[in-house]
Amino acid sequence: MMTLRAVLRSILTLYFLVAVSACAHAQSGKADYQPQVGQDGKDVIWVPTPQALVDRMLDIAKVTPKDYVIDLGSGDGRTVITAAKRGVKALGIEYNPDMVELSKRNAAKEGVSERASFMKADLFETDFSEATVITMFLLPDINIRLRPKILNLKTGTRIVSNSFTMGDWSADDTVVVKDGCVSYCTAYLWIVPAKVEGAWSLGDGELSLKQTYQMIAGSLRRGGKAVPIANGKLHGDQITFNAGGSVYLGRVSGNSMEGTISSGGNWQASRSGK
Ligand SMILES: C[S@@+](CC[C@H](N)C(=O)[O-])C[C@H]1O[C@@H](n2cnc3c(N)ncnc32)[C@H](O)[C@@H]1O
Repeated sequence: MMTLRAVLRSILTLYFLVAVSACAHAQSGKADYQPQVGQDGKDVIWVPTPQALVDRMLDIAKVTPKDYVIDLGSGDGRTVITAAKRGVKALGIEYNPDMVELSKRNAAKEGVSERASFMKADLFETDFSEATVITMFLLPDINIRLRPKILNLKTGTRIVSNSFTMGDWSADDTVVVKDGCVSYCTAYLWIVPAKVEGAWSLGDGELSLKQTYQMIAGSLRRGGKAVPIANGKLHGDQITFNAGGSVYLGRVSGNSMEGTISSGGNWQASRSGK
C-alpha cells in the first residue's frame, strides 16, 4: 500500500514532468507541425520551390562557400538548407514563426544548423544588404517593391527568383528545369550592376553614359569625334560596349573604370562630374 506522502510525491513528479515537457514543446514549436501548401502567409502564401529548382537556382547564381545566401520568405527552409549543405552560410527570413521553428528542426536533421540560420521577421523590414546571393519565391509586385533596395545592394550581388520577374528589369539569365519539376520550374537571375550613369573622362576623350539597369547607351568622344555606343552592358562590375568599331571591355570600381580595347591598348576613365 502506498502512503499518502508517496501518492502525493508521485502526483507532483507527474505534474512536474508534464510541465517540463509542455515548456520544451512550446520553446521548440510544435514538433509535429505540418505546413499545408497554399497556407496563408503575411504577403505571400506558402508554396515550396521544387527541390530540382532549388538546386538550379543555386547553380545559376554560381554559389560558392564564400557566399552568404539570404532567402526572403524562406518557408520550410529548403533553399537555406540546400545552400548550407553546399558549405555556404545562409539565412532564411520568414514571417511565420511555426515555419521558422520547422526550418530549424529541418536544418538540425540535415546536420547543417551551424551554417543555416532562420529569423522570424518581415522581409520588408529586414536589412539583407550583407547577402551576396538573394533567393526568393514571392510575387511580381513584391519583387518590384523590393527592386530599389535590391539595386542598391553591393555590385555583383546575385538575385535568383523562382518564376516571378522584376518588371522591366530583364533577367541576366533564365533557366527552365524539366526533370523533377512539374510546376514553378523557371528561375531568373539578375546581377546587381555597377552604377555608371553620367560623364566619364578618358584623358583624351569623354564617355557619356545612360544606364537602364544593366543596359548602357551613350556616346564616346575621342579626337574631336563622337561615336554612339552599341551593345553596352554591365555584368556586375564588368562593363562592355562597342564604339567606333572597337569592343571596350573593362571593370568598374567606384569612380573609375579601366580595361582593354579590341583594336589594341588599354582604356581608363574616371568620373568627370559634368
Ligand atoms: C511561396 S513561399 C516560398 C518559400 C521558400 N522560399 C521556397 O522557395 O520554398 C513564400 C514564403 O514567404 C513567407 N512570407 C510571406 N510574406 C512574408 C513577409 N512579409 N516576410 C517574411 N516572410 C514572408 C510565407 O510565409 C512563405 O513561407
